[in-house]
Amino acid sequence: MAVYESVTDAIGGTPLFRLSRLEEGLGARIYAKAEFLNIGGSVKDRAALSMIESAERDGLLRPGGTIIESTSGNTGIGLALVGRGRGYRVIIGISDRAAREKSDILRAYGAEVVTAPTALPKEHPDHLFHVVRRLAEEIPGAWLANQYDNPANPDAHVRTTGPELWEQTGGRITHFVAGIGTGGTISGTGGYLKQVSGGRVTVIGADPETSVYSGGDGSPYFVESIGHFVHPETQEDHWPESYQREVVDRFEQIPDRESLLTARRLAREEGLLVGPSSGTAVAAALRTARGLGPDSLVVVLLPDSGRSYLSKALSDDWLREWGFLEEPRTPDDREPTVRSVLGAAPEAGLATVSSAASLGEALAVLRGVPGGVAPVALARPGRRNGVSASEVVGSVDTAGIEAALAAGADPGDPLGDRLGAPLPTVGVGQPVSTAAALLGSGHQAAVVLENGRALCLLNRDRLDGPA
Ligand SMILES: Cc1ncc(COP(=O)(O)O)c(C=O)c1O
Repeated sequence: MAVYESVTDAIGGTPLFRLSRLEEGLGARIYAKAEFLNIGGSVKDRAALSMIESAERDGLLRPGGTIIESTSGNTGIGLALVGRGRGYRVIIGISDRAAREKSDILRAYGAEVVTAPTALPKEHPDHLFHVVRRLAEEIPGAWLANQYDNPANPDAHVRTTGPELWEQTGGRITHFVAGIGTGGTISGTGGYLKQVSGGRVTVIGADPETSVYSGGDGSPYFVESIGHFVHPETQEDHWPESYQREVVDRFEQIPDRESLLTARRLAREEGLLVGPSSGTAVAAALRTARGLGPDSLVVVLLPDSGRSYLSKALSDDWLREWGFLEEPRTPDDREPTVRSVLGAAPEAGLATVSSAASLGEALAVLRGVPGGVAPVALARPGRRNGVSASEVVGSVDTAGIEAALAAGADPGDPLGDRLGAPLPTVGVGQPVSTAAALLGSGHQAAVVLENGRALCLLNRDRLDGPA
């Protein structure tokens, strides 16, 4: 049993767990690196300590200074627990979409938290990226950690995570699987393992299906902290310098559903309560192991604990609301779900209007829609995966557009601010009674969600009519 003189000494040195239940029937052994056992609960403690020590060495961070960073949460926790202990002020900018638990944890460690939108074009002055940069310029003695481009981030993994895995597996590791956020983990760990093994270790990037890292369309996904989302109005997209693309041999593109349900299985079957990005990584590891023999040894990295996601990805109610879970709520739950009233090919009934459409174009779409109402989604050139619920910006209906035209608007005018509120949503696995309650409370229609994306519209006729 270890005795530490300082909490920072307890960063790193995490164990490997065999995924004996999930790997059953697959060719290779799979071990998971339990990074949630770091003192701050995630792999990011390593990068935070490394970046702070390097900034102190370089004189960028001095006594009385302020540490600033934008983060999906975990890097902020690492910076707060190391930084506050050394007497620094710590200000963390966090996405307004991050799980609520993360900002609560940051405050509990004594960090100041600012939230700002990330669902904006990168150039927008209110985007989190610019908010933290402005703070860093305004506050004397401030240092922006900038994990995205800070070489001390991947370097933490070259010095610690990589050598630990080589030692823990006695040099027998053949495949390393990890997600990519800033890219620090995969670049540093993967790069080290390739170098020490003379190129024998294959590095696999576990990427959300729509992330642009592995060639997706950049549309939003539900797994936090990994992949690369691109707002459709972003002019110039930069990839982090912490991500060294040449280290990744290949990708597994994992849909949200597979990631989220794999994270759920990890808790239920392996006793590992981990976050959704661990689900993505393990889903990729399972796919990898399927094609390999018993001499192969796959190591997958589990970045953080599930305790930060109890209100979202690890809640069955949340999974059902977004259309990720359809199984009965309890073994004797007989209540029909929304799916049971949709009939075959429900998606045929969905029409969405682009936010870039003109009044005339919107009207043409609405003419074919029963009920004359449709959701409006952000225009995304090259969209391949359907409309994500988070890209719905409002709704339009025939009556509203006809009224605008009658009042003198031109059919070529943009929809602009003539949007109504977004329609309510219901998950395809939620009880029919939930949908009935929504439609009974004055809404014309609800959007049925399957895997976080719009599947079809549901109105009163459909609910009452034959399935
Ligand atoms: C939960 C979680 N998973 C994965 C990652 C990705 O790690 P990296 O930034 O080293 O690529 C992060 C980074 O913040 C994370 O917080």
